[in-house]
Amino acid sequence: MTITELITALQINAKKAPYIQRLMCILVHSGFFTRLKLRKNNQEDGYSLTSASRLFLKNEPTSVTPFMNIMLDPMLTKPWYHLASWLQNDDINPFYTQHGTTFWGCASCDPKLNLFFNNGMASDSQLVGKVLVDDKHRKVFEGLSSLVDIGGGTGTLTKAIAEAFPHLDCTVFDLPHVVASLEGMKNLKFVGGDMFEAIPPADTLLLKSILHDWSDEECVKILNHCKEAIKKNGKGGKVIIIDMVKMDEGDQELIETQLFFDMMMMVLLTGKERNEKEWAKLFFEAGFSGYKILPILGVRSLIEVYP
Ligand SMILES: C[S@@+](CC[C@H](N)C(=O)[O-])C[C@H]1O[C@@H](n2cnc3c(N)ncnc32)[C@H](O)[C@@H]1O
Repeated sequence: MTITELITALQINAKKAPYIQRLMCILVHSGFFTRLKLRKNNQEDGYSLTSASRLFLKNEPTSVTPFMNIMLDPMLTKPWYHLASWLQNDDINPFYTQHGTTFWGCASCDPKLNLFFNNGMASDSQLVGKVLVDDKHRKVFEGLSSLVDIGGGTGTLTKAIAEAFPHLDCTVFDLPHVVASLEGMKNLKFVGGDMFEAIPPADTLLLKSILHDWSDEECVKILNHCKEAIKKNGKGGKVIIIDMVKMDEGDQELIETQLFFDMMMMVLLTGKERNEKEWAKLFFEAGFSGYKILPILGVRSLIEVYP
């Protein structure tokens, strides 16, 4: 697409063409577009999408635009301005300094934020779900009989797993206000509760984008409840974690992304991104006997943890 075509498609004021040209320079530099020399019209450059910008196409089933929209919402960006004052006060995080409550407290009292956040996470889970049930990774779920997706939100990831494994009995477990109005289907049900109190029994417990939200102490409590849930079920089993395993060396862009996510966990929540040593410490502290890490998607890995 040329700048002229872009201006027409997006109904941009034609006088703004030079600014669009400048915007496209940084978007090309950062890998969101590639510049093409068009043979038909060699006066004007064309631009084409890259694999990064394809993830933001609105009507694609794997679009992560809703996820990006929450990350850039002022509700989540304003707390960054309080980083300095938070370092001098007693609040649990800069989110609290800005809003006077925790992130989860805000989401439970504000149905619009709750919906906006859950839709954002669902778009990320749609992408991860597609990767998890593909031929390369589906063996992780083979032979299992029951699965509880802890903090599973509106169930997007579990739906993909439940459809791919019709004999697997799946439960999405989340706070009551998140699952109250959701209806299950054949092999999937929604259960409301608090993972710091108890987790329904199953042979597999899934935690996607959960443990990085919480401090080490809180994670050990959640993992202890996971162990009890596997024990109560009585058939052995495992915990499946989908989160980042922070790299100390390697691709600089991936490291930078992980470090920014680590900062975001500090600003908004009580959590952190962890390297392998930090993960292992949590697992052994919660009484698990071993683990296996499989890199699955960009900066994220799947960790199987065994009782
Ligand atoms: C970052 S979101 C992840 C959602 C989902 N796993 C995903 O990746 O799309 C964290 C989820 O944890 C849930 N949550 C927070 N505190 C919880 C608690 N005490 N018990 C159960 N779920 C909780 C939130 O409601 C939210 O759905």
